[in-house]
Amino acid sequence: MTGSNTMDTILVIEDKESMRAMLKQTLEGEGYQVITAQDGAEGIRRLADERIGLVLTDLKLPKKDGFDVLRAVKEDSPLLPVIVMTAFGTIETAVKAVKQGAYDFLTKPFDTGHLLVLIKRALDATRIASENILLKEEFADKLGLPKIIGKSAPMQEITTKMQKVAPTNATVMIRGESGTGKELFARAIHYLSNRKDAPFIAINSAAIPRELLESELCGYEKGSHSQALARKLGKLELADKGTVFLDEIGDMDLALQAKILRVIQEQVIERVGGDKPIKIDVRIVAATNKDIEQAVQEKLFREDLFYRLNVFPITIPPLRERRDDIPPLAQHFLNKYSAEVRKGPITIADEAMDILMKSPWKGNVRELENVIERAVIYAEGGVVRSQDLGISEASIINALAEHVPMDGPLQEVAAAATRIAESRRIRQVLKQTGGNKTRAAEILQVSYKTLLTKIKEYQLEEKGE
Ligand SMILES: Nc1ncnc2c1ncn2[C@@H]1O[C@H](COP(=O)(O)OP(=O)(O)OP(=O)(O)O)[C@@H](O)[C@H]1O
Ligand SMILES: [Mg+2]
Repeated sequence: MTGSNTMDTILVIEDKESMRAMLKQTLEGEGYQVITAQDGAEGIRRLADERIGLVLTDLKLPKKDGFDVLRAVKEDSPLLPVIVMTAFGTIETAVKAVKQGAYDFLTKPFDTGHLLVLIKRALDATRIASENILLKEEFADKLGLPKIIGKSAPMQEITTKMQKVAPTNATVMIRGESGTGKELFARAIHYLSNRKDAPFIAINSAAIPRELLESELCGYEKGSHSQALARKLGKLELADKGTVFLDEIGDMDLALQAKILRVIQEQVIERVGGDKPIKIDVRIVAATNKDIEQAVQEKLFREDLFYRLNVFPITIPPLRERRDDIPPLAQHFLNKYSAEVRKGPITIADEAMDILMKSPWKGNVRELENVIERAVIYAEGGVVRSQDLGISEASIINALAEHVPMDGPLQEVAAAATRIAESRRIRQVLKQTGGNKTRAAEILQVSYKTLLTKIKEYQLEEKGE
């Protein structure tokens, strides 16, 4: 995305022919697209049917004047900046225009350099304003390039891959179990691309009611239905020049799939009630935790869309397959949450880290984050201990039982198998004796003390077993 096609379109409304021509030439020379109108009425008409990023209008105009233009803009698209031009000696009128919502004014004759600075500033301000609205709505705490933690070999590999693809325009498909960091990667791709100053818009197709989908994505024109009192831009249009994150594509319904395919192929949308396709420029990053190939087979997902989206797949492995990442991630969340609850520095006791290292993490990084968040609240004396984690050894052993590790040194394999077997048997006997440990020790033929040690080690008491 380089060159003039990414530049904004400016509507110039000016009745004096030579002035109009000069402005057009100057602005086009800077790479802007320029639309001109020679009176207020034409200018207002132009507002309705073109994609305009800024209006530069004379105040004194035939037919409708600059104030009428300003009013029309404020009604229709309040965020669209208007710069007014006024003849020398009529500053008061210009000030009045600013009070009515013009971004700024210029008195003629003006310096071109000044004009260009003003235009750039207005466009930047609007971009930030419209992005802020979106940010406030949905991404309040998610500003900027996210920090991705992960030194394990598989994470290094996909991070490198991600950094390579980020600056391109390629569609990226991020796959991985729930909570592995798909959205995090999607945002990193956006912030590492030259689209970073334009919005990053997430669309979770499963979360939008079906009947609202079209207007959510494509927007609508004023008057297109009874509630459409003003034009509303859809998410795809708001994302113009930015990145659209299509989350949970496995749940996307077929009608939406067709729409998205068109956006990818032609980069156009149509507002509901509009009669004209609107060109947009968006980069798509998709994510799923589902087996999309299966969905394609079952005709629930369009094959053509699948191939369009799957240009550059990145698969984030589950946390249990990259346990080296657990300590730095735990530390990262520890810092994050201890700052949040204004506790001082907190460390993790060795035995607690041991549990984190062994846990199955079915909910991946998100689950680890939740465990640490809770642990920070429970932690006393600046240390997270195993009991603060809310993970019982029993649950780990249960998870292990499904899958006794069949790698590593024999001693470790044997130790894991022993833990599983012993803890199961102890639980069984405790149940049988109604929790009577003396009886249980007799049945198991170990000393009372040994039994207590093992109950503690395997944390068999926590659930009252
Ligand atoms: N490598 C990482 N470094 C730092 N934080 C991470 C990492 N991976 C995930 N997280 C954090 O874990 C949480 C879950 O990540 P995210 O929402 O990106 O996962 P997801 O794959 O989109 O999950 P789901 O499929 O459930 O939507 C987020 O708070 C995210 O910031
Ligand atoms: Mg997600």
